[in-house]
Amino acid sequence: MDSLELLRLQIALQIEWGADEILLDAPQNRLAVKTTQAGNLATAVSPTPTPAKAAARPKSPSPSLAGPAEAARIAAACGTLEALKTAVASFAGCALSETATQLVFADGAENAKIMLVGEAPGAEEDRAGRPFVGPAGQLLDKMLASVRLDRTLVRIVNVVPWRPPGNRAPTESEIAVCLPFLHRHIALIKPECLVLLGATAAKAMLPAPDRNSGIRRLRGHWRALEIPFSEANIPALPTYHPAYLLRTPSAKREAWLDLIALADRMKTMV
Ligand code: URA
Repeated sequence: MDSLELLRLQIALQIEWGADEILLDAPQNRLAVKTTQAGNLATAVSPTPTPAKAAARPKSPSPSLAGPAEAARIAAACGTLEALKTAVASFAGCALSETATQLVFADGAENAKIMLVGEAPGAEEDRAGRPFVGPAGQLLDKMLASVRLDRTLVRIVNVVPWRPPGNRAPTESEIAVCLPFLHRHIALIKPECLVLLGATAAKAMLPAPDRNSGIRRLRGHWRALEIPFSEANIPALPTYHPAYLLRTPSAKREAWLDLIALADRMKTMV
């Protein structure tokens, strides 16, 4: 095998493992350790210059990452969306914030009656800092337009606000630590209903035993959800994720029925 072929294989392997974005000009060995003056082990810092974005991040991964309880404590103290965004941006408890380019907080109206919850930003959202701007987002825009909605009328968020490397699904612990911020976001927006886009959002938001059911069984059925920080229960409609619809056009018929269910609910909204 010649060295070019070997390099191609190495790159293909890295992409498969999720290293599909260039974050630094030079490689950084995150596994290397060095001994500090105090004699403690500390993560080695690369001698290579740090990009401005990473340098501007007000935190670094701590050996004891804050867990869901700490996230809930921080979220509870946020009285405004601006405070919540600032708190999430400086939250060091989710390692995804270290590999993502930037926080993808939300899009849409702050007084929206309908809140859409997706899974996690993809590569295009990670670059743009806005949720659902890639192909799935373009389909979502069309779905919204079919029921006379657009981004000025809804709020769009994700279960986790940072892109998982390689677009993998967020893990249960990543979801658990980000969930209090989503709950607080919902409490601050006070929507009249939620639309849960796909299996990850449904699993994250629904209580047992529903959370253990597949999206095909859950979709199209409204449920009243008790959401931490929110006073009243909020009706939530699980449906297919637009990315799934792009891969499975035959599911669009059911997604259309779900949109009709949403349009019916909108008629009852004040
Ligand atoms: N898929 C999601 O779930 N969220 C996005 O923001 C983009 C794609």
